[in-house]
Amino acid sequence: MLKYNILEEIRVTEKEEIDLQKEYIKKVRDINKNKKLKYYILTMGCSLNENDSEKLCGMLEEMDYSKTENFEEANFIVFNTCCIRENAEDKLFGKLGEVKKAKKENNAIIAIGGCMMQEEHILEKLNKSYPYVDIIFGTHTLHKLPEDVYKILEGTNKKIEDVLDIDGKIYEDLPIKRVDNIKAQVTIMYGCNNYCTYCIVPYVRGRERSRKPEDIINEIKGLAKEGYKEIMLLGQNVNSYNGGKNYNFANLLKDINKIEGIEKIRFISPHPKDFTDDVIEAIATSEKVCNTLHLPLQSGSSNVLKAMNRKYTKEQYLKLVEKIKNRIPDVALTTDIIVGFPGETESDFEDTLDVVRKVKFEQVFMFIYSRRKGTVADKMENQIPEEIKHKRFDRLKELVESQIKENNQKYIGTIQKILIDGTSKTNENTLSGRTDSNKVVVIEADKKYINQTVNVKITQDCMWYLKGEIV
Ligand code: SAH
Ligand code: SF4
Ligand code: F3S
Repeated sequence: MLKYNILEEIRVTEKEEIDLQKEYIKKVRDINKNKKLKYYILTMGCSLNENDSEKLCGMLEEMDYSKTENFEEANFIVFNTCCIRENAEDKLFGKLGEVKKAKKENNAIIAIGGCMMQEEHILEKLNKSYPYVDIIFGTHTLHKLPEDVYKILEGTNKKIEDVLDIDGKIYEDLPIKRVDNIKAQVTIMYGCNNYCTYCIVPYVRGRERSRKPEDIINEIKGLAKEGYKEIMLLGQNVNSYNGGKNYNFANLLKDINKIEGIEKIRFISPHPKDFTDDVIEAIATSEKVCNTLHLPLQSGSSNVLKAMNRKYTKEQYLKLVEKIKNRIPDVALTTDIIVGFPGETESDFEDTLDVVRKVKFEQVFMFIYSRRKGTVADKMENQIPEEIKHKRFDRLKELVESQIKENNQKYIGTIQKILIDGTSKTNENTLSGRTDSNKVVVIEADKKYINQTVNVKITQDCMWYLKGEIV
């Protein structure tokens, strides 16, 4: 894809690089002082992007920009993009059209970063049709935002395009402004080596690389001191975490479990092929690790799984589920499924429905297969017509919804221990939290309960969430 930038070689160690960026932060802060500048950020994609955005916000706030939810009044606009499926492109270009006015009225700086910027055809389109974008950065150059902003403000550069195709290093100690003050997301590894044939991630995020255990543990200890109670560990394939000799994901879970102040530990996403017994054991024996597991299936057909390069069969997946259910009896399983992968026959699709019926997932994230340039599956000849993909999607959705409805009944009347993490997304007057199994529970109660763990009696099933009352 993109060329290797030789200049990057001369750049010093990761620590020196971050120190350099901190100098740029100071320089920008001097320029921005007393100007009451605002930034607007739009994040697309997965939790890893959300965590990256928290770092972008951290850097921007240290550069004396304060956050606004209204891009029309922003002096700095940043989009952190995703390219996992095609519709993300339409969303970005639509948004870019909208913010052109802010550029004119507030002389706003417009920056775009993230996964989509690692795609050459996107850069070409941006350069051709959206010349008013000031800064373009990729997934390996996010930490250089202060330098980019400084150069634009100073006029050293009229426009910056800083995208690298090398495997990124790991930059610790970036400023961070978290969206939540009870739950914190902590990225433990970057990139992916799996090359599932439908997926763009390995091309845009680079090779798998793990943070050092001590860096992760210290970050979480710091979070516990700040009052955070719940930790979500992030990575494209968390259970292939490699913290050095004889230190794997199971060791990490057990060590985080010992950190005082942290009450709940969750993680996404593990890969079924790497789900070793020691990880199951660590979940079963670490009391803070939630009994909820996101175990991406993708397809229930062994033929399709092979074509997807998932490295497990339908039988192996079901066996793994059985093993997990035996060791962790109250486990709640969630999954991701793609329908309409090239060559998927009616009988392959039936296999997917079969696994869904057998496993009885707590939640299923369903996706219609989307062709991604540069991936192996995009070149496969037996692409499935849109109409068939949609019909299968609807059939799967119907099955999933009926199962969720049935499954929800087991909660009614039970008492659940719930950490109230804020007001509900749709109604400011109600509170919300999650069961141990990660099911959202909405509660009508006083705001004083926010940040407390309380006993809640589940009273009502509302399909995607439950209602309850504090007892
Ligand atoms: N690393 C994680 C998932 C990352 S992407 C894992 O392996 O589970 C999140 C989900 O998006 C995937 O699990 C997959 O279901 C879906 N996805 C990825 N590429 C896709 C594509 N080309 N079309 C449709 N869905 C896709
Ligand atoms: Fe994509 Fe597969 Fe890696 Fe997940 S494991 S990010 S689906 S290549
Ligand atoms: Fe999207 Fe990048 Fe995540 S492509 S799903 S934001 S890793």
